[in-house]
Amino acid sequence: SVRIAVLASGRGSNLQAILDAIAHGQLQADVVGVFSDRVDAAALQRVPAPRRWAASPRDFADRVAFDTALGDALAACTPDWIICAGYMRILGAAFVARFEGRLVNIHPSLLPLYKGLNTHARALEAGDAEHGASVHFVVPELDAGTVLAQARVPILPGDSPESLAQRVLAVEHPLLLASLALLASGRITEQGGQVQLDGHPLFSPLAL
Ligand code: GAR
Repeated sequence: SVRIAVLASGRGSNLQAILDAIAHGQLQADVVGVFSDRVDAAALQRVPAPRRWAASPRDFADRVAFDTALGDALAACTPDWIICAGYMRILGAAFVARFEGRLVNIHPSLLPLYKGLNTHARALEAGDAEHGASVHFVVPELDAGTVLAQARVPILPGDSPESLAQRVLAVEHPLLLASLALLASGRITEQGGQVQLDGHPLFSPLAL
């Protein structure tokens, strides 16, 4: 079955959704490794110790050195797909090139809106009526790769960044699982920023 590696810096609820779907037979895949830039990330505890890799960027000379160590550990478990799920460190261009086409990120906004951090507060400040999450292919430019699928939620009166984050997270899990099922099916290809479904160009993100 499909080999999935997950990059995570924190809680790992998206990782847990993947693990649960596999355990319940809803996704034919294996999580072959969880990789973190935070040795104390709760996400790591969700898989057995032999499938964990973590290191602190502080212990490396520069970004390239850290990315090379991460990339070597990743390559050693021969993943078909590498999923950034709450991975909060920028991936350098060489790392992205090494794994391009196999690297996917879930981002808590309706891209191209609100790349980067604090997406929920920014959507609230802008007075938006809706918000959501996107699954996209990773390119060197932050949160700029082709979007495969999106899920939307309303912004409600009285929302705080926290309440909105919670509503978005609830749709992130099914969004990520549906995206992974599509990726695992082999029906999706990506080349030079162009995503194809069954060999036909996808002109807009799938709505999930
Ligand atoms: C999720 O909301 C994810 O979209 C976001 O971090 C959270 C991780 O939650 N990712 C980013 O902001 C990436 N820039 P989790 O650790 O419970 O999966």
